[in-house]
Amino acid sequence: MKKQNSIAKLVSSKLVSSNGLQYTGYLAVAKTRAKVLKAFAYIIPIRRPMLFVGESSCDELCDMLINEGSTNVFIVTDGVLNKLGIPAKVTDYLDSKNISYKVYDGITPDPTFKVVEEGLRISVDAKCDSIIAIGGGSVIDAAKMIAMSQGNNCKPQQLIGILKARKPSVPLYCVPTTAGTGSEATLGAVVSDDKTHQKALSIDPRMVPLAAAIDPVIMKGMPAHITADTGIDVLTHALEAWMSANASVETDYYAASAVKSVMQNLPIVYEDGGNLKAREAMGIAAHYGGIAFNKAGLGYVHAIAHQLGAYYSIPHGRANAIVLPYVLDVNRQASKKRLAELARKTGMVKSGQASSSDSDIADYLIAQVRELIATLNIDPTVKGMKASDFDSIAKAAAKEVSDTYAVPTYLSASEIKDILLKIKQASEDAAGTDAKNDKVA
Ligand SMILES: [Fe+2]
Repeated sequence: MKKQNSIAKLVSSKLVSSNGLQYTGYLAVAKTRAKVLKAFAYIIPIRRPMLFVGESSCDELCDMLINEGSTNVFIVTDGVLNKLGIPAKVTDYLDSKNISYKVYDGITPDPTFKVVEEGLRISVDAKCDSIIAIGGGSVIDAAKMIAMSQGNNCKPQQLIGILKARKPSVPLYCVPTTAGTGSEATLGAVVSDDKTHQKALSIDPRMVPLAAAIDPVIMKGMPAHITADTGIDVLTHALEAWMSANASVETDYYAASAVKSVMQNLPIVYEDGGNLKAREAMGIAAHYGGIAFNKAGLGYVHAIAHQLGAYYSIPHGRANAIVLPYVLDVNRQASKKRLAELARKTGMVKSGQASSSDSDIADYLIAQVRELIATLNIDPTVKGMKASDFDSIAKAAAKEVSDTYAVPTYLSASEIKDILLKIKQASEDAAGTDAKNDKVA
């Protein structure tokens, strides 16, 4: 534990400013931090959830929970899913096995500490001995925090940071209802501050759920635009994990499998939400994407998209879809060999292009990603972007990268602002407005 704490301290230490004046120092610290994160990922074992797949997967997940000795389950979900009757697939089965349970449907998008605390209070009062999260990333993240707080008899705020827990979490099982975050496979959870809405991250390998059920029937009701947004989130996890300087043979396997599956199956489920085979494939791809970025990390797409989400209320997947092509363009030079390798592995190569240069093949891959996003009719505009926000957005994105990720190439604040400007201009072009009076600071 002592060794883990010293690693955690180094990972979370203060960083040199990224405003350009100390850019060289910033790069050195960021690169050192990336190496530490890589060591961290390999020193500390990260378990994998048991994975059940298919239409009977929820039953199998419940059987596992019962066999592990649970007799009183806390079901965590949100109001919309509960109204749609989605948890019934689990609760009906628990009824048939005479297992008692309590349902909490108070999880909101971007859950706050208050939401988590309320769930924790109900679970503790009901003396629940296991938790099943049924929902998207917000529900699963909240359930992780409830399970870990209950297991450690502490407030969720005390778990913010790296390796803050001393004991295991209450056994946690997940039924993802979207193919997106892959949160059922990861060791982190995000909670928002009730007043500032700033996001806080808790990271601990003991937060990884014990099992997950990928049930395509549960996912088939997802509307097309959410299918598109969350699907691009999967693609972004996999591409950023693939391009990461901390990628490994293991993470490459999961990242490449996820990319191939998304390119094949996302257009199918977007057109036909009832295609269970493609839904299931997307659910597995989301899980694989989660495994890949759990160790390899993410990059500038997520770092910038998180800020667009916070500043302009853009859903996470859509923000990724907006940012992804621009970051692929700036990574192209540093990542062309890796992108070409990925294209060859996943069949994203034009016929007769096998002997082309890495640059040409990487360009073709990037073009196919752009084409996929266009096919999904994802709105590429961000409404209300202000150039006066760009300094703080760029600074926050640079900090997220240097604190957390191992990217193929580090960007200066002005390079990040260039990306923001391109997004702003594209948004204004699409909206037909004139940006002449709002120059970048
Ligand atoms: Fe994501």
